[in-house]
Amino acid sequence: MGKNVRGRRDFMGMALGGFTALGGLGALYAMKRSWDPLPSVAAAGFTTIDLSAAQENVLNVEKWRGKPIFVLKQSKEMVSKASEASQKRLIQVGDAYYMVAVGLCTHLGCIPGYDAGNQSFLCACHGGTYDSTADVTKAPPPRGLDIPPFKIDGMKLVLGEKGPEYEKMLADGITMPV
Ligand code: FES
Repeated sequence: MGKNVRGRRDFMGMALGGFTALGGLGALYAMKRSWDPLPSVAAAGFTTIDLSAAQENVLNVEKWRGKPIFVLKQSKEMVSKASEASQKRLIQVGDAYYMVAVGLCTHLGCIPGYDAGNQSFLCACHGGTYDSTADVTKAPPPRGLDIPPFKIDGMKLVLGEKGPEYEKMLADGITMPV
């Protein structure tokens, strides 16, 4: 009988321990997922990002020339909520729209955080905010997040190469050269 009780306790302990470990893993997995970079290849100053795995309203953070790069696939609702000027910041790949920007605040260079619930960025350093297209919505940042040079290649984006879409953005004053 004593043996049975101990056996039962061991089982409960194991089950509970397993549950806690699983819960912890789940939380870690959820946390990691939201910061998971997309499949990408970096070589000779270029970073090629495969956008086909991107999910709407999930921020992906890539790296290009030592800088964090935000990639945010927009939902239809996000696109329609943005002003006409902000929409011009978006990059169309296939039939989807993406915000791609250097993840450094244009005020003093802090890394803004993304709030998926409000579909906006907050820079905790001095309270600047940006919408889902990374256009500035509250000072002190003087402008939206800068867009890195890019070229569209099928469902991939090559950062560091200047494609015609990027050249047009530069010419229209939508972004500053990075
Ligand atoms: S560095 Fe972002 S608001 Fe100042």
